[in-house]
Amino acid sequence: MDSLTNTWGIWELPDGPADRKVELDMGCGKGRFTTTLAHRYPDRLVLCNDVMSDRLRIVEKRGIREGLANLRVLRAASLALVSYQLPPDSIDRMHLLCPDPWPKKHHLARRLVCTDFLCRVPRILKRGGVFHLSTDYVPYFEDWLRMFAQLPHLYEPFPEGVADVADIKTDFELLWNSKGTPVQHIAFRLKG
Ligand SMILES: C[S@@+](CC[C@H](N)C(=O)[O-])C[C@H]1O[C@@H](n2cnc3c(N)ncnc32)[C@H](O)[C@@H]1O
Repeated sequence: MDSLTNTWGIWELPDGPADRKVELDMGCGKGRFTTTLAHRYPDRLVLCNDVMSDRLRIVEKRGIREGLANLRVLRAASLALVSYQLPPDSIDRMHLLCPDPWPKKHHLARRLVCTDFLCRVPRILKRGGVFHLSTDYVPYFEDWLRMFAQLPHLYEPFPEGVADVADIKTDFELLWNSKGTPVQHIAFRLKG
């Protein structure tokens, strides 16, 4: 696990083929989605981040046990990763799956997805890169639709960009589904 801190500065992507695709699973939790993705695309570099070390250790151990040489586990806050820790134009596809919805009114400011965040994402996403989000919390989902609709110069809907991973469920998606709650997914493409 690499712990990224402000003082460490910009983290460099490890050596690899220049055209290697890079996927990022933000707020990966215990990493069910991340590790399945890394198995599915051994030729891609799969990054995942979270702020909770215990969850990341589970992902890391699983990656080692399953021989996932293309997986890198980062202890980092998603906003910092997007804002300055990852190199510009470095990510082909990023996934933000079941982020904390912070449903209480006095916690709304803690939500990650806001217009400010959506305007920072293009720094790390390559042109044509895909941003995939999911949530079980309908008001958060509706907010996303409103926010993306206000940024047509940056993003366009691109559901086909995640068709190949539609079968992979995260731990939280499985949990919600087991309680009868659906999880909705959306995907956008960064305009060139
Ligand atoms: C509801 S869980 C979802 C985990 C996983 N994506 C899934 O669907 O199973 C949200 C995750 O986001 C992480 N998280 C919360 N705030 C974060 C932040 N600022 N940066 C990175 N991860 C964060 C939490 O630690 C938690 O693991």
